[in-house]
Amino acid sequence: MTRSTTRQFVIVANRLPVRQVPNEDGTMSWETSPGGLVSALAPAMASESADMCWVGWAGVDAEGIEQPFISDGIKLVPVPLTPEEIEAHYDGMSNGTLWPLFHDKIGPVEFHRTWFDGYLRANRRFADAVAEQAEQGATVWVHDYQLMLVPQLLRAARPDLRIGFFLHIPFPPGELFMQLPWRHRLAEGVLGADLIGFQTPYGAANFKRLATRLELAALDGSHHLKVGDRLAHVDSFPIGIDVARSEALARSPEVGEASRDLRAHLGRPQTIILGVDRLDYTKGIDMRLRAFKELLAEGRLDANQVTMVQVAEPSRDKVDAYVTMRARIEHLVSEINGDFGRVGFPVIHYIHQTQDFETIMALYRAADVMLVTPFRDGMNLVAKEYVASRFDDDGVLILSEFAGAAHQLSEAVIVNPHDIDGLKNAIVLAIEMPEADKRRRMSAMRASVTANDVNQWTRQFLKALSDEVQHDSAASPT
Ligand code: G6P
Repeated sequence: MTRSTTRQFVIVANRLPVRQVPNEDGTMSWETSPGGLVSALAPAMASESADMCWVGWAGVDAEGIEQPFISDGIKLVPVPLTPEEIEAHYDGMSNGTLWPLFHDKIGPVEFHRTWFDGYLRANRRFADAVAEQAEQGATVWVHDYQLMLVPQLLRAARPDLRIGFFLHIPFPPGELFMQLPWRHRLAEGVLGADLIGFQTPYGAANFKRLATRLELAALDGSHHLKVGDRLAHVDSFPIGIDVARSEALARSPEVGEASRDLRAHLGRPQTIILGVDRLDYTKGIDMRLRAFKELLAEGRLDANQVTMVQVAEPSRDKVDAYVTMRARIEHLVSEINGDFGRVGFPVIHYIHQTQDFETIMALYRAADVMLVTPFRDGMNLVAKEYVASRFDDDGVLILSEFAGAAHQLSEAVIVNPHDIDGLKNAIVLAIEMPEADKRRRMSAMRASVTANDVNQWTRQFLKALSDEVQHDSAASPT
């Protein structure tokens, strides 16, 4: 590869910002990839696009796209994965083992050697692609739990690179992580980075404790680990959203009209309660539906006055626990509509489809109460997007104390999503909240979301990475 095609800055994440999806006629088309990682990172990267590239999987097997291409001004480098690798690396090790374990074992965790082997092969494939794309001395930013081995693999192949790693999901306490048969390999993999970032101080503290407990590193001050003869910086960098883009869209006439249409179509004078999630067992969708059902049954909510809209975007539908959760949610939705709806007036509007951002914004604008009640979540950007959309300071956010976002949005109505009575009381409190109280809370949350947006997050992480490498080379004997 000639020098002119390599890049000074390389992002590597399991997914590219766009993915291939099959059309009804058997052809394929591109759409924005799902999830918080892409929705946060892609807009922030668009402004840095000149000397960067993004390495990731295109969401299809190796038969799909293999050549680098430009999308929205960014060079995208697809990493081909075979169907067997997708099964072992993505469905298996990433989403059958690491995802539930890192979310406090909320879903069933399985440990399979073949999955780890596939994960290692896929991580090698990603590291090789980065090594090929990165210019001498380039900065590489590795993202998330699907690629925990990449920092070390890269350091071995390309010691000239400065490597940052950011985990978008929670990092669990040692008691859970220690169950992994490959605990040393995974922790060592991450320790290959110069800067290791987490969403919250808890994640950073859990990782530091773990690395010392496994005797892979020693603490050196409060934010550094000594790994062999070099230092790795470990810290928290809570991710934000693109506030300017969200707010501009929320204020646009199109979104305004769409949100008025939505309210008109929903029919009656009422309160709209909204949930927007990937359909995932960590999100607490089933629990919030149960709370809503009990409130209707007890007459504390009136089906003629209140409507719930639940968007549950399809996700990971080859993993059993997701199939089971979908069935549970859809059973609850039909029970609630059967018991409390009327012809033409369902009490829950349930959408199991991917929605574009404009539609989601119109829903945020229409909603009086937003329910974000995960059992555990790295950050939860939906909570921040809702806040950014409320430019009139109206609306109430109900937020789980176990979402990373709760650290910054303490003026939300904070709930324990496992406590169904607490959840019910929070919903009633939110609906009945006096206007002045709503505005005070929303305005404080908007200030916090705006001050900590995604551009600030990117700048902070990349500055810490560049400081770290300078600090480390100054500290090392030459
Ligand atoms: C979360 C993870 C991301 C992941 C996204 C969507 O936000 O942190 O790494 O990409 O979910 O999940 P999927 O499995 O579809 O990539």
